[in-house]
Amino acid sequence: MTNAIEQAASAITNIHGPNFPKTVLVLGSGLGAFGEKIDAENIIPYKDIPGFPVSTVSGHAGQLLIGKAAGTPIACMQGRLHVYEGHPVQEIALPIRTYRALGAETLILTNAAGSLRQEMGPGSLMLISDHINFSGRNPLIGPNDDDVGPRFPDMSNVYDAQLREQFTHAAKEEGINLKSGVYLYTTGPSFETPAEIKMFAKMGADAVGMSTAPEAIAARHAGLKVVGLSLITNHAAGIAAHPITHDETLAIGAQSYETMSRLMLQFLSTFDRTP
Ligand code: HPA
Repeated sequence: MTNAIEQAASAITNIHGPNFPKTVLVLGSGLGAFGEKIDAENIIPYKDIPGFPVSTVSGHAGQLLIGKAAGTPIACMQGRLHVYEGHPVQEIALPIRTYRALGAETLILTNAAGSLRQEMGPGSLMLISDHINFSGRNPLIGPNDDDVGPRFPDMSNVYDAQLREQFTHAAKEEGINLKSGVYLYTTGPSFETPAEIKMFAKMGADAVGMSTAPEAIAARHAGLKVVGLSLITNHAAGIAAHPITHDETLAIGAQSYETMSRLMLQFLSTFDRTP
């Protein structure tokens, strides 16, 4: 284990003790309020964990909550890092590797995304079936730590089939219409042009956003199971009838928050609850 992972892990253990949850949830833009559903035993600001980069985006709190949701032990990142903030994409990997070193097994990623499908409008929830990393960057660039994972990790099954099945089942239980599709990752921070969106649609993308894929790659490298959920906040450029704004994405996030949170709690209630 590298020094950086060890230092971050021991900072968390010093505060929370040895029982780190097996499940970690990352809350995307506008979804930070889900933190309220967590019965938190400890709230650790990222600035208190060595090497954890601090997010600057509005709608992202920047703290790690450790406790229970729907009875399931969970650690929750309230606020995530983005490459567009100026962080090298490699920095996104440290928190993920730290959770793995602490015994986490599953990573649940959420995000706000733009839809490339006419019938998948604002407020829709999309389970990520796969991703396209269209950023030209990869969190694994640099020397490989063989203790974390292999130099050339397989990415054939990034989003775990069984966890997706569990999510689909949870959606049925709650009567929620859950879509499924391919998430395309760009760095942002500018939204896309209509020409880019047309190209992404031809490439097989269903939704576009500025996060998630780097964390998913780092997590698969480290041997974590991954599942991802996109909250569709807008139709993408050229499909939308009006310009896209960050405020709109936050507003739709807030409106759809209740549905997302019902789905997430139902999903989490199906997890192994042993600490
Ligand atoms: N594009 C990229 N990222 C986004 C979008 C979008 O249209 N909506 C929310 N996040």
